Amino acid sequence: MTDRLAILGGTKAIPTIFQPYSSYGPEEVAAAKAVVESGVLSRFLGCWDEDFYGGPKIREFEQAWTKHFHCQHAVSVNSATSGLIAAIGAIGVEPGDEVIVSPWTMSATATAILVWNALPVFADIEAETFNLDPHAVERAITSRTRAIVVTDIFGHPADLDALYVIARRHGLKLIEDAAQSPGAMYRDRYAGTVADIGVFSLNYHKHIHTGEGGMCVTDDDTLAERMQLIRNHGENIVGPKGITDSINILGFNFRLGEIEAAMGIEQLAKLPRLIAAKMHAAKRLTAGLRGLPGLRPPIVKPGCSHVYYLFPMLLDPAVLGVSRKRLAEALVAEGVPALAEGYVLVHRLPMYRRKIAYGSRNFPWWPQLGRAAIDYNDGICPVAEDCNDRTVLALEFCAHHYNDAEVDAVIGAFHKVWNNLEALR
Ligand SMILES: Cc1ncc(COP(=O)(O)O)c(C=O)c1O
Repeated sequence: MTDRLAILGGTKAIPTIFQPYSSYGPEEVAAAKAVVESGVLSRFLGCWDEDFYGGPKIREFEQAWTKHFHCQHAVSVNSATSGLIAAIGAIGVEPGDEVIVSPWTMSATATAILVWNALPVFADIEAETFNLDPHAVERAITSRTRAIVVTDIFGHPADLDALYVIARRHGLKLIEDAAQSPGAMYRDRYAGTVADIGVFSLNYHKHIHTGEGGMCVTDDDTLAERMQLIRNHGENIVGPKGITDSINILGFNFRLGEIEAAMGIEQLAKLPRLIAAKMHAAKRLTAGLRGLPGLRPPIVKPGCSHVYYLFPMLLDPAVLGVSRKRLAEALVAEGVPALAEGYVLVHRLPMYRRKIAYGSRNFPWWPQLGRAAIDYNDGICPVAEDCNDRTVLALEFCAHHYNDAEVDAVIGAFHKVWNNLEALR
């Protein structure tokens, strides 16, 4: 076998096709079948009734979630996007309030803020775990700040203690977007359960899923009730239930189905095994890549665990003498699957650049709300921008199964490219 790079006409290092990741098996099939046979595909009622809280599988799934994650309340929803909207609504932001969020996340984390006519303010990340930098968050706080939404990105928890302390010192709520980090640990707690509210995703790209779905968790009775109201047409319920302090609640239909809930129960039971497999593969990959000049494998901070939704690496292009783009092309040509250059930078989306979310007149960035000056230009988050533009290369680790042989094949492809950097220059 020649050592010549595939991109330069040599033989591919990895001839095999990687199997797509799937967390499903006969258990989910049986669970879904049983629900279909029961005839109860949903039992939510959008009025004040016992069924306002959903049917038997919804309740069982939520109970299982509270037990697994050691939290008081779990409110299932039909996506993490819905869950984030419910969470922001539950904390009672006012139109024009500012909510601090990372630009290095999925767009829905920030969109959920705009849904309530509040305004995302982007604070920079740190380049170790790519999570919100607490110092940048503190610098972004103004008299109008109401909350911080922190994403536990790629499977590693953010600096939650520091953010919690900042939130409490300034009278802010902390919401945790744990969509990518189910089962990751932050000290002795699960990611998603440290903040006032945590939100998980159960879409089909995640470690465990229900096709589409999500779960919100909290230990606060009032926040849980407000999320339940927002999930299920709350404006209809406040009167009959006798709620007087939430009459302005806007309800949606964020309800999850019984089939999804039944499959979710099975998925949750598999979560520890599934993340253990991801951690095993990541540990082997990290060991195999360690020492390659100009490449830093993922960092796991003391007291934390990483569940590797992505396997993010940091490149030093000056050491490599090759651009990230050229390197990624060479790795892909060798057969390395699902390689991502950078990530989403939310403040660069056209909606923020042009400050136009509702209608055609720049609402909610209206001068009369005093919010026209919020800056979404390049330069506000230099670390995130540099990581995105030049230095982060990530394997989408939830896209495929990686057994030991597959991990070793990926390691082999990296070494082959690194042994031939001169040829790429
Ligand atoms: C960090 C993060 N937040 C929110 C979401 C939205 O999740 P969902 O598709 O369940 O609405 C995602 C989805 O990928 C995500 O990665």
